[in-house]
Amino acid sequence: MNRRELLQLTGYTSTALLIDSLGVARADNYMRRDDFGDNFLWGVATSAHQIEGAYNSDGKSLNIWDTFSARRGKVKNRDDGKVACDFYHNYPEDLALVSDLGIPNFRFSTAWTRIIPEGVGVPNPKGLDFYKRIIDSCLEQGLTPWLTLYHWDLPQALQDRGGWSNRDIIGWFSDYTDVCTRAFGDRVKHWIVLNEPMAFIGLGYLAGIHAPGIRSLKKFLAATHYTTLAQAEGGRVIRANVPAADIGTTFSSSWVDPLTEEPRHLQAAEKADAFFNRLFIEPLLGLGYPIDRFPLIKKIERYIQPGDMKRAQFDFDFIGLQNYTREVVRHSLFPPAVWTRRVPPKRRSVAEDEVTDMGWEVHPEGIYHLLRQFAAYDGVKRLIVSENGAAFPDIVEAGRVHDGRRTSYIQRYLAQILRAKNEGVPVEGYFVWTLLDNFEWAEGYRPRFGIVYVDFKTQERIVKSSGRWYQQFLSGL
Ligand code: GCO
Repeated sequence: MNRRELLQLTGYTSTALLIDSLGVARADNYMRRDDFGDNFLWGVATSAHQIEGAYNSDGKSLNIWDTFSARRGKVKNRDDGKVACDFYHNYPEDLALVSDLGIPNFRFSTAWTRIIPEGVGVPNPKGLDFYKRIIDSCLEQGLTPWLTLYHWDLPQALQDRGGWSNRDIIGWFSDYTDVCTRAFGDRVKHWIVLNEPMAFIGLGYLAGIHAPGIRSLKKFLAATHYTTLAQAEGGRVIRANVPAADIGTTFSSSWVDPLTEEPRHLQAAEKADAFFNRLFIEPLLGLGYPIDRFPLIKKIERYIQPGDMKRAQFDFDFIGLQNYTREVVRHSLFPPAVWTRRVPPKRRSVAEDEVTDMGWEVHPEGIYHLLRQFAAYDGVKRLIVSENGAAFPDIVEAGRVHDGRRTSYIQRYLAQILRAKNEGVPVEGYFVWTLLDNFEWAEGYRPRFGIVYVDFKTQERIVKSSGRWYQQFLSGL
């Protein structure tokens, strides 16, 4: 797609078009930062367990991913997060790199196991200090910190008591949020409560392919409800403790298309949409669980106590939307998702270069549709794309990594975000997933999502060409 077609697609007309027609613009850099406006927030996202390593240093206890990774056959190649990118020790250089790249906002998560090793009870001063140093370093480098409270690394001590499927998690999580907000609230203004509840509850308690590796519809439904309550409670604790906080939470999202327009496939697509995209946000907005579209979840009602659906609501300042791919689904009589089944890209003859290293289809239009879908909710005020990015097999050649496919992926998704923005969708920020190649959960270290390459043997970092492109783009060139 050339710049002119792109500008038409995004409905954008300006002097940029004129400059372009004079042949000044470069074909590989067809959008400019300015196109998104001065107030648009640009960032990069990370998470504690995926980068920190130092899994048992300074009082940190084991989290569910430490124990899950130790179980045979759970994580590819028997990889684990013991060392990862050793961000625990390398953070000064890594944050300096973020600053050199001109990325103004840094999203990271705090590890509950560093801060309250037993999950409840006495905080660990060394854990708190580590994050104070991260935050101070960010501020010294001119980076704005965005703190995620929970990015999937529950203390094993709490999992031993049922984890997210125990109603007590609401109190445990509030206490942890209270400790974090009191410790960091003077310097951190942007707070994210949960990272993708559908992913950690769906994959962790129903599909069993992520920690804690449970496959139980009952536990999944209980965990869904208690996570929904903890999500709102977390928001309230932040609001009470941090003056002028900007409070959000994130949701995974996948645009869902039916395999064909046949009614049974259309219905399957509605179910999948209810499940993937609506389950966690709708109770938050006072709309209840989307049981009408997906009766399988009706039994969630047995976990709901009087007053819960009111407590599940909270007025977030922003919603973080995270999107990577779309799902094409078909009607099916069989589990896992009962009456709806994914049709993977390879069964749909999607071109090979339109599929990432995770086997996910590159489908930029999906993010446009999802932004519109989420913006259509009355209670959603601002949207921030809090994660988007792609894994491709990177090759180091003469000390460089040329990852043109990743750059193009980001550009194409950004074009669709701009298209939504120009149509009035209140999307106000974009965070690339992710800074460093890292521990990609059950997939281990093979899929590389970073805009910075990591040699896991030497901990050497190489900025990939996508990172250079982002730097250039952010510099306004
Ligand atoms: C998620 C998580 C990240 C992943 C990324 C790529 O969205 O699943 O937030 O931790 O690494 O999404 O799968």
